[in-house]
Amino acid sequence: MMKSTIAELLNSDKIGTEVQVKGWVRTFRSNRFVALNDGSTINNIQCVIDFENLDEALLKRITTGAAIAIIGALVESQGKGQKVEIKVAHLEILGDSNPEEYPIQPKKHSLEFLRENAHLRIRTNTFAAVMRVRSALSFAVHKYFTENGFYNFHAPIITGSDAEGAGEIFQVSTLNQKNIPTTEDGNVDHSQDFFGKETNLTVSGQLEAETYAMALGKVYTFGPTFRAENSNTTRHLAEFWMIEPEMAFYDLDMNMDLAEDFIKAVIKDILVSCKDDLDFLESRLTQEEKSKPANQRSEMALIEKLKFVSDNNFIRLSYTEAYEILRNCKPNKKKKFQFPINEWGVDLQSEHERFLVEKHFKCPVILFDYPVNIKAFYMRLNDDGKTVRAMDVLFPGIGEIVGGAQREERLDVLKEKMAVLDIDEKELWWYLDTRKFGTAVHSGFGLGFERLVQFVTGMGNIRDVIPFPRTPQNAEF
Ligand code: 4AD
Ligand code: MG
Repeated sequence: MMKSTIAELLNSDKIGTEVQVKGWVRTFRSNRFVALNDGSTINNIQCVIDFENLDEALLKRITTGAAIAIIGALVESQGKGQKVEIKVAHLEILGDSNPEEYPIQPKKHSLEFLRENAHLRIRTNTFAAVMRVRSALSFAVHKYFTENGFYNFHAPIITGSDAEGAGEIFQVSTLNQKNIPTTEDGNVDHSQDFFGKETNLTVSGQLEAETYAMALGKVYTFGPTFRAENSNTTRHLAEFWMIEPEMAFYDLDMNMDLAEDFIKAVIKDILVSCKDDLDFLESRLTQEEKSKPANQRSEMALIEKLKFVSDNNFIRLSYTEAYEILRNCKPNKKKKFQFPINEWGVDLQSEHERFLVEKHFKCPVILFDYPVNIKAFYMRLNDDGKTVRAMDVLFPGIGEIVGGAQREERLDVLKEKMAVLDIDEKELWWYLDTRKFGTAVHSGFGLGFERLVQFVTGMGNIRDVIPFPRTPQNAEF
């Protein structure tokens, strides 16, 4: 007999037929009712055991977490809460789960406890829902770009460049750590290293993607990126996935249009494809909100918030306009910000971004034309000589979700910028070649995939939206 998934059975009209399912026991009550889950849906199927058919020893082995196979008739359910159930004719234990030892009991566990059991937390409703949404979002991303004429480009993971210039890189080396060879002037001799030069895990696929956009027109990367920043926040990971489109002949306005359209499209997609999981995540969140003080509760429930974001225009304003709002706002005047806003050119911190999005505009915001000194070398200089064509998309509850820019396509301006920042032209000779041979206006951005998953699922901590989070002092599993 063909095995069915629980998702198929719960939506099926096969009432009266004999079916087979395999899954893991969530609960077993009254020695009669097994709630079985196989990962295909948030919903369990109820399997009813007529226990005269089963011997005592077998019944004892139906414990939370055990893997079982069931054959029986699919019947209309007598009880509340489900349309159909399985009348068990045959039950086989595939894998026992000792209830004394199994950590995931049918009760509320803290997210911290589950993080320590990241290999088993996927067996809870919350994490299964989050990871199904993550999977569906990933598919929606590929679908969006494919349907809009982009090519998927696989950026290298090991690279010699540090695109963001922040120096927060993980080195890649096969040199003997106990006996590192040095040059005459005392530096590490990377000529003896695996690649014959200094290399690191990529912080962004952008620079390589730019070379591809200069031939294929529109490309995007979607891969892991790595940052050795010592940030222990709810929004930072050392290993995260980034989506980076890069488009020839796009200026900053077109870039902002794309970012907004893209985010709205994938959210709309998920609202349809992940309805059951989002319903569950919304009720989970509503429950969690009840324990917060009234003034910290969010004004919208999860699905309403997702609809609001996908149906309304994002606000766009320049850094300078945002600076004026922030300089004159109450929290700044009352010295409530940890980082006061008192001088044009200061970098905006998450507290400022969140004030703009959550308190002032109450909707997503795109800031553009940032001061040159706080942004990366590759961003196009404006005629004022003080600002660059950068843009950040800021989201409620998240802060920065996208960072991007129109790129500096003028060779002489780019070289000057690199000289000021002490970036070696020899290291980036291939990048400069794109400006030598057929240079063109082009733009792109990077969206932190986990921050998007956080927004869509309503999870407060980024460590709970990636299967095995890597953070300072933590690389278990
Ligand atoms: O703003 P960032 O640093 O931009 C870039 O890397 C550009 N090269 C992208 C491009 O233009 N192609 O990072 C982009 C996004 C951020 O807005 C944020 O969402 C996410 O990546 N991000 C992180 N997510 C999780 N953990 C971290 N440590 C992150 N750092 C950045
Ligand atoms: Mg950024």
